[in-house]
Amino acid sequence: MQTDDQLCDIGFIGLGVMGKNLTLNLTDNGYRVAAFDLDHNKVNDLLAQEAAERGEQDPRIEGCLSFTELLGKLKAPHLIVLSVPAGAPVDDVCDKLIDAGISADDIVVDTGNSLWTDTITREKHYQGKLIFFATAVSGGEVGARFGPSLMPSGDPYAWTRIKPVWQAIAAKVDPQTGKALERHSIDEPLPQGEACADYIGPAGAGHYVKMVHNGIEYADMQLICEAYHIMRETLAMTPADIAQVFKQWNQGVLNSYLIGITVEVLEHIDDDTGMPLVDIILDRAGQKGTGLWTAVNALQVGSPATTIAQSVFARSLSAMKDERIIAASILKGPEPKALAGEDATVIIQRLHDALYCAKICAYAQGFQLMNMTSIEQGWELDFAAIAKVWRAGCIIRASFLLSITQAYERNESLQNLLLDPYFAGQIAEYQHNWRHSIADATMAGIPCSAMSSALAYYDSYRCENLPANLLQAQRDFFGAHTFERKDQTSGKKFHVNWSEAKRTMVKVN
Ligand code: 6PG
Repeated sequence: MQTDDQLCDIGFIGLGVMGKNLTLNLTDNGYRVAAFDLDHNKVNDLLAQEAAERGEQDPRIEGCLSFTELLGKLKAPHLIVLSVPAGAPVDDVCDKLIDAGISADDIVVDTGNSLWTDTITREKHYQGKLIFFATAVSGGEVGARFGPSLMPSGDPYAWTRIKPVWQAIAAKVDPQTGKALERHSIDEPLPQGEACADYIGPAGAGHYVKMVHNGIEYADMQLICEAYHIMRETLAMTPADIAQVFKQWNQGVLNSYLIGITVEVLEHIDDDTGMPLVDIILDRAGQKGTGLWTAVNALQVGSPATTIAQSVFARSLSAMKDERIIAASILKGPEPKALAGEDATVIIQRLHDALYCAKICAYAQGFQLMNMTSIEQGWELDFAAIAKVWRAGCIIRASFLLSITQAYERNESLQNLLLDPYFAGQIAEYQHNWRHSIADATMAGIPCSAMSSALAYYDSYRCENLPANLLQAQRDFFGAHTFERKDQTSGKKFHVNWSEAKRTMVKVN
């Protein structure tokens, strides 16, 4: 029988790339972990990596060959983290843990990319059998290893137990400057600072917020790609030239992880061909579904996340490669080099401003969507806290998130980021170049669907009188769907008897 000192603090199930790195991150922070995977080779790989990294003297991982063995190696009440594929595997593992004798006060934390509504269902389903808690993780494999951004949600008691663990392993930010304190290798000391791990809300809230993070990520990436495409096509710039532009942009308001990795990608030369790798990669985008979930949810809630949805569609359209090859030979458009001859520096500055304004709109859409769902679900999400959790560790980390935090600190019930005086001022200042870039790209026949959808969102949102009056009349004409009148109290419905010779108006309620 092992004494409490010999028992492990945390059980870890699922040792794929994310699970393995999260486990090693836990051990860096002094936790003893009992690790299990259905594929026993993964357990052995993990043990070998721990030995290679820390030497044989101070092992903190115990490999397990079964769920029962894992439970037997843990301090009670048990804390077990899952990193298994979203969907059925999560339920499968929970059911096996129940069979293996897990107790009602043991906590199981799902860290996969689960659908938020599944998390709500699971929390209820496992009540009385185990405490099902969830934590959405962003940052990819490097983030998992050296500091991810964590979005925990669920039972508040479970949070009190998990909080010190998550705050230890999460990415850190310097509280004075708001800058990320990065750690890139095990030889570097653990950074001390504000942890990018904060309680998001009741069950489902954390995975919901992570889903919207990914929707914003899709938009952020698509906008960068459009800026690249416009430089490529209208200025005939090489990937290396464009990398230099992004490098410069990364010093200012656009500073972000995604711009940084774009520079590295554009500079990379393919070993086999000696060509820029980006020119060798097939232009057919993949997607795992979280951007799609965000877009579907935005449609369901009625939140106009147009740039996010457009970025999902841009991936779908890119995937129609064979059809596009045929269309390219049939469909006519302007000559792509339409901007040749113009001052490149001016065009590049316009593009910078376009990317910045469109990015503000994409984030405004994401936060607006979270706000609408927060009200619908009664979550009371804290948007300043969410922006803080995204300042380091996650894929959309950017200096810009500090400005978003400040906007919500100025006004916690801000309806839309665009209404914050700072962001309203930024768009007022830079919008001329945004409009100009889109006009230039459009006249040159270069698609910039996300950039222009963001502008349409901005112009629609600031438009006091939209043509929806005409639309309401059309609906009433063919379907007697009724309309409200500007000169009557809101909520009173009217209908015109369009099919009668004398088109009389009737009050419906
Ligand atoms: C993150 C990433 C991560 C993953 C996406 C990619 O925050 O760490 O968003 O979740 O890389 O799922 O999604 P796509 O394959 O759909 O681009």
